[in-house]
Amino acid sequence: MAGPESTPRLPRHLAVIMDGNGRWAERRRRPRAVGHRAGARAVNICIDFCLERGIGALTLFAFSSENWGRPQDEVGALMKLFMGALEREVEELARRGVRVRFIGERGRFSPAIVERMAAAEAHTQANSTLELAIAASYGGRWDITAAARRLASEAAAGRLDPAAIDESLLAAHLSLADLPPPDLFIRTGGDQRISNFLLWQMAYTELWFTDVLWPELDTATLQAALDDYAGRERRFGLTGAQSRQPAHAPEGAR
Ligand code: IPE
Ligand code: IPE
Ligand code: MG
Repeated sequence: MAGPESTPRLPRHLAVIMDGNGRWAERRRRPRAVGHRAGARAVNICIDFCLERGIGALTLFAFSSENWGRPQDEVGALMKLFMGALEREVEELARRGVRVRFIGERGRFSPAIVERMAAAEAHTQANSTLELAIAASYGGRWDITAAARRLASEAAAGRLDPAAIDESLLAAHLSLADLPPPDLFIRTGGDQRISNFLLWQMAYTELWFTDVLWPELDTATLQAALDDYAGRERRFGLTGAQSRQPAHAPEGAR
């Protein structure tokens, strides 16, 4: 969002791949689940950072569609942690004005977790200080496929003319359709890839990678990402001269 010249540009929406828990534990010769537990602390650091800086939306990639294929004991440990966090953290998030939602294929979780997710969403739905989306059992391909399936059903039922399907209609059927697309993406853990995160929504997101492992995340690392972002020129396919015109609202910025 363009603010006064003196204020640094802040992302409206930050998307994060929280990676490196397993390696953090392995380096300490501990089970990978210990790394996941340590990663929970970093989640709070990241949420606090957004609240303090006034970043309006945060999407955290917690568990991918593909992560279901990990060894059963690791998946089990992650589900236990997830359940524990849902029981422990929601009240505090609610108190701080955070609105929580979960994006992903919910039917793959146990009924107890699904119930807790719905309860957390209902409990925080009137909040607006920070829009927090937890991507769990999420994949960008799943998201686009689910949107396509919904549109296809509408068309098959005769309620939608296929010729009316355009980018904005598809976008409206994706997760996070009510939020601006992520301005800044951060991935910890040293790998430089998207790993099936928000594929459509990140078409013009600025990417930032760090070798810091997720359990070691600190405010200085997040600030370094923001500082880097503030110095970038986003052109959305236009020329530099066009994109520097203040009144211009390019397509890609939505
Ligand atoms: C990210 O850490 C958390 C999940 C994917 C659930 P990893 O578990 O992928 O950690 P590394 O990448 O193996 O170190
Ligand atoms: C991406 O990390 C998913 C999450 C952090 C939840 P992965 O560790 O699963 O990604 P790859 O396998 O390294 O691409
Ligand atoms: Mg990983």
